[in-house]
Amino acid sequence: MSDDVLIVSGGSPLKGEVRVRGAKNLVSKAMVATVLGESPSRMYDVPRIRDVEIVRGLLELHGVKVTNGDLDGELRFDPSNVERAGIDEINVHAGSSRIPILLCGPLLHRLGHAFIPDLGGCHIGPRPIDYHLEALRRFGAIVDKTPEGLHLSAPDGLHGIKYELDYPSVGATEQILLTAVRAEGVTELSNAAVEPEIIDLICILQKMGAIIKVHTNRVIEIQGVPRLGGFTHRPIPDRIEAASWASAALATRGDITVKGARQADMTTYLNVFRSIGGEFEIDDNPVDGGIRFWHPGGDLRPVALETDVHPGFMTDWQQPLVVALTQANGLSVVHETVYEKRFGYTSALNQMGAHIQVFQDCLGGTPCRFGRMGFRHSAVIAGPAKLHATDLIIPDLRAGFSHLIAALAAEGTSRVHGVDLINRGYEDFEAKLAGLGATVSR
Ligand code: EPU
Repeated sequence: MSDDVLIVSGGSPLKGEVRVRGAKNLVSKAMVATVLGESPSRMYDVPRIRDVEIVRGLLELHGVKVTNGDLDGELRFDPSNVERAGIDEINVHAGSSRIPILLCGPLLHRLGHAFIPDLGGCHIGPRPIDYHLEALRRFGAIVDKTPEGLHLSAPDGLHGIKYELDYPSVGATEQILLTAVRAEGVTELSNAAVEPEIIDLICILQKMGAIIKVHTNRVIEIQGVPRLGGFTHRPIPDRIEAASWASAALATRGDITVKGARQADMTTYLNVFRSIGGEFEIDDNPVDGGIRFWHPGGDLRPVALETDVHPGFMTDWQQPLVVALTQANGLSVVHETVYEKRFGYTSALNQMGAHIQVFQDCLGGTPCRFGRMGFRHSAVIAGPAKLHATDLIIPDLRAGFSHLIAALAAEGTSRVHGVDLINRGYEDFEAKLAGLGATVSR
C-alpha cells in the first residue's frame, strides 16, 4: 500500500495552467454506444483515466477491437465481431465501475444475451439500479439475478415503452436511450435527466442513425431503428474536473487556468464561484480557450446552495467547493439532494481544523427524497478555518480530490492514502499538481 500514498506539503497557492479533456461521464457511455453500431467509431480527446481502461477492457472481452488512433487521446472501435464473453473474465471487473450496467441494451441487441458483473463505483450511498432493471423488463428483457451477477436475455426482442422515471436518474436515462434506439417502435421517457453529458450522448446516437427528440419538460422520445452505424465524436469537456481545479484555486488562494473548460456547461457553478468572491475570465477560443479562475485576495463570502439535477448545482461539484467554503468568512449551507450519503468526507476535513456540521434536516427549499429518512444530507460550514496537515484516507473519487485540495490548503505535510482512486476520474493529476507548483511526492 505504501506506493498508494501521496505526501503533500500544503500552504502555498496553486498557480498555473491545466487542461481538461473529454468528460469521464460521457466518454465511458460513448464507448458503450460503440457496441450498438455495425461499423467502426472514433473518439477524440479521450482522457487517460482508470474508468476508460475498465470500459475498454470490457469492450475488448466482448470482441470490440479497440485501438489507439494517430492523435493523442484518439481511440478507435471496431464492433464488427461482438461476441459473448466468459463470466469469469467479466467478473474480473466486478466492483470496479458502474458502467457495465449500461451494456445491457447494446449486448441484448447484438447478442440476445448479456451478463453484467456486480457494480462498483463510489461509496456515496447504496446506489440502486431498480430503475434500470424495471425499464429493461418493460422493454422485454428477462433479468435473472444470480450470486455471480445479472443474466439478461430477450427471447422476444426489445420493444419500445412509455416510461416515467421516479427521479431524473442520469444512468437510468442513459440505459433507456441505449436500449430504445434499436428497440422496435417508439419509446417515450418522462422525467428524464437532461445533463449536458446526456445531450452529448444523444448527439452521438444521432450520428449513428438514431431518431431522438428531446421535448420540453424532461420528455425524450426515441423512434427505434433496425440498425445503427458508427460515429466520430469529440466529447464535451469534463466540467466536473474543471470545477474541481477552480475550487482548488479558491481553497489555496491560487490562480488556475483550465484549458478546455467551457462556460455553457458550467454557468451554475460560475454563479456560485462569483457569489463566494472568486473571479474568473472566459476565453472562448475554440482551439485553445478555457477559463481562468482565481482568488482575488481578501475574504471569501459564505453561500447557501443545494445540489440538484441539471441545470442545478452538480452533486460532483459539491465536495471540492466545500473545502473552499471552509475558508469563507461566515456560515455556508449545502443541502445535498442527489445522494443521501455524500458528506462522509467532512469528518476528515474537521480533523484538519474545519468546522462542518452535518444534519438530517433539509436545510434548503428544494423538495428532497431524504428529508424524513434520517440521512445526514445537509452541511453547515463555519469559516474561515485554519487547516492543518494530517493523515487522510481517500474514500471515493470526488471526496478524494477534496481531501487532496484540503491537504494542499493546509499548513504542513499530509499523507494522503489511497490516491490511486483519484486516477479513476482525473487524468495525470499528479503531473498537473506539480505543474501548478504543488509540492507532492510518492
Ligand atoms: N437512483 C435510484 N435508482 C436507480 C438509479 C438511480 O434510486 O435505478 C438514484 C440514486 O441512488 C441517486 C440518484 O438516483 O440518489 C441519482 O443517481 P443517477 O442515476 O443520476 O447517478 P448515476 O448515473 O449512477 C452519474 C455519474 C455520477 C453523478 C451522478 C449524478 C457516471 C458514471 N456517474 O451517476 O458521477 O454523481 O450521475 O449526476 O456518469 C462521479 O463522476 O464521481 C460520479 C459519482
